[in-house]
Amino acid sequence: MPPERIIIDTDPGQDDAVAILLALASPELEVLGITTVAGNVPLALTAKNARKVCELAGRPDIPVFAGAEAPLLRPLITAEYVHGQTGLDGPDLPEPVMPLDPRHSVDFLIETLRAEPAGSITLCTLGPLTNIALAFARAPEIVGRVKRIIAMGGGAFEGGNTTPVAEFNILVDPHAAQRVFSSGAPVTLLPLDVTHKCLTRKVRVDRFRALGTRVGDATALLLDYQERFDEAKYGQDGGPLHDPTVIAWLLRPELFSGRDVNLEVETGSELTMGQTVIDWWGVTDRPRNVHVIRDVDDEGFFALLLERIARL
Ligand code: RIB
Ligand code: CA
Repeated sequence: MPPERIIIDTDPGQDDAVAILLALASPELEVLGITTVAGNVPLALTAKNARKVCELAGRPDIPVFAGAEAPLLRPLITAEYVHGQTGLDGPDLPEPVMPLDPRHSVDFLIETLRAEPAGSITLCTLGPLTNIALAFARAPEIVGRVKRIIAMGGGAFEGGNTTPVAEFNILVDPHAAQRVFSSGAPVTLLPLDVTHKCLTRKVRVDRFRALGTRVGDATALLLDYQERFDEAKYGQDGGPLHDPTVIAWLLRPELFSGRDVNLEVETGSELTMGQTVIDWWGVTDRPRNVHVIRDVDDEGFFALLLERIARL
C-alpha cells in the first residue's frame, strides 16, 4: 500500500507538535510539507515551532512554510494563556537550524495540488483554516483535486472551548471555516466531542516519559504543559488532546465513529460567532457536507500514539 500523501496545516502549539511527531513517525504517511498559520501564537512563532518539531523528530528535510498572519476578516486572537509565550512552552527545544522555505503556505498548497495527481493529496488541518480558504479562493480548480480534508475544530454537543459555543480554530477564522466546509471538498472533522474524550491522564503522560528517549521526554513535557490550563478549567486528571486525533484518524479510522451531517459556521452574530451548527439528527434538508466524528476508543488512541512516538 503506497503511503497516504499529506500536507499538514498547523499553528504549533503543543498538541500540534505531538500531531506532527505522530505523522513523522508513521510510515503509512508521506508528509509533503508543513504549512503554518497564525493561531495559537503569531505566525513568526508557529513557523519557528514547526521547524523545532521537525528537528526534534530528526526530519529537517521536511519543507516548512509560513502562511497567513491574520484571519480573512477578523482580527487575530491568540492563545498564549494556554500554550505559553513561545507557543511551545514545556520542553526547551533549541532554535531551529533548518531554514523556512521561502514560498508562502498558500502558494505551496496551490502549486502542489495543481502539480500532483488529482485526488492524491490529503490536507490535515490543525489550526485556523485561513491558508486553505485563501488557496481555494485564489485557485478554485484545486478544490476538486483535494483527496480529503481532515480537520480538528468545532464542537457539536460539547459546545465551545473559547466561547460558550465556539472552539478556538473555528473562532479565530469563522469565515475561512465556512468557506472550506461549504467548498465541496470532502471534509472529516474531529471536534471537541472527540478530543474531550482523549484526556492526557497522568498515567498516560508517564508512559511517554518512561520511554527514556529524547522525543518521549519532550512529548511528556509538551503534554504536561498544555494540560495545566485545561485541568484547572475542567477540574479533572489530564486535559483534552486535540490535534493528534487528526493524524490518528488517518492511521486507524476504526478507532473513531461519526456520521455525515450538515455543518454551518456562524459568521454573523457576535454572541455565537464561530459556532459550528451541526445538524446531527438531520432535522434540516441542508446538504450533509461534513463527516463529523463523535466517538473514539481513547485507550486505542493513546496506545497508537505511544507506540509511534517510541519509534522516533
Ligand atoms: O481548540 C483546540 C485547537 O485550538 C487545537 O488545534 C489547538 O492547537 C488550538 O489550535
Ligand atoms: Ca492547533
